[in-house]
Amino acid sequence: MSDLKNIHREYNSKLGNKLSLEQINQIKTELFGKNGLISTQFKILGKLSESERKQFASELNKIKEDLQNLISQKLKDIELSSINEKLENEKVDITLPARPIIKGKIHPVSQTIDAISSIFSEIGFSVEEGPDVENDYNNFSALNTPDNHPARDMHDTFYLDDEKKTLLRTHTSPVQIRTMMKDQPPFKIIAPGRTYRSDSDQTHSPMFHQVEGLHIDKNINMGNLKGCLNYFIKEFFEVDKIKMRFRPSHFPFTEPSAEVDIGYEIKDGKIIIGEGDKWLEILGCGMVHPNVLKNVKVDPNKFQGYAFGIGIDRLAMLKYGINDLRSFFECDYRWLNHFGFDPLDVPTNYRGLSR
Ligand code: DAH
Repeated sequence: MSDLKNIHREYNSKLGNKLSLEQINQIKTELFGKNGLISTQFKILGKLSESERKQFASELNKIKEDLQNLISQKLKDIELSSINEKLENEKVDITLPARPIIKGKIHPVSQTIDAISSIFSEIGFSVEEGPDVENDYNNFSALNTPDNHPARDMHDTFYLDDEKKTLLRTHTSPVQIRTMMKDQPPFKIIAPGRTYRSDSDQTHSPMFHQVEGLHIDKNINMGNLKGCLNYFIKEFFEVDKIKMRFRPSHFPFTEPSAEVDIGYEIKDGKIIIGEGDKWLEILGCGMVHPNVLKNVKVDPNKFQGYAFGIGIDRLAMLKYGINDLRSFFECDYRWLNHFGFDPLDVPTNYRGLSR
């Protein structure tokens, strides 16, 4: 019995010290291993008389339980302090900038939209947005293109219902209507976005991108339109001189209407913008038709202005030397890796628009 008490006292005091995991495991073996001090005490039980056995067994179980509790408490303490130590030493600084292992790339069309927005914002245009799913009124009727107007056929529209009331917008021009309906003049906006027409070949994709421009104020004329487009083309292609011509055209929502071509030539297999005697059509424009202004409750006797619609994909192809439009939308990772842009390379007028 006194042996038992000694073991208890000795290990009680050992377990009171600061111990490592190995030391605790060592103590565990010393006490409860096959030939451990406590384990061997159990072997004695059989040799005792019945009354002694009862008392000894109860004492032995108590001590065994006490020491086991002490050990498991000690193990818990160690676990806790190792977690605390990890928390203390393995801090993650979440304010550090992300260092992506595989870098994503910005699509040339997105990069072009950013460049266009930056250029127009320099001369006071703000950016508006409209939905891809439009109604027939905003896409056609309000833009002076009533039912049965021949211009509707040219758009190869994707209708979304049998009554032909809902459609995928065929151009960004409905954003003109949305903008003028919700505010009062003056207006000076651009609206880049996706547009849709049932058409597909090397230079046409059923989904493509346009940017709409609208400037309505007092005393705006074709000269303002020409100045604005001239500035834009020069900035976009980063050239000092640009050859530009206005060809008379027809759009129901503008009067007069024009299509704009820019001059170019091919030197050593490369397109040079602004020189040469070849012409490339890049946009449609004109003075906003009085009927359009009336439809959005703007008085055409007080306010007037110009609008334009530019094909974004074609501008991107020209600027970055990409010659098949379809490759834009094939989602080929290798293509994107080659033609894409660094996410941090945001185009601005100050930092430059190209790589
Ligand atoms: N919406 C026309 C199209 O997609 C382009 C256009 C022409 C827009 C003249 C305009 C404009 O704002 O004034 O073919």
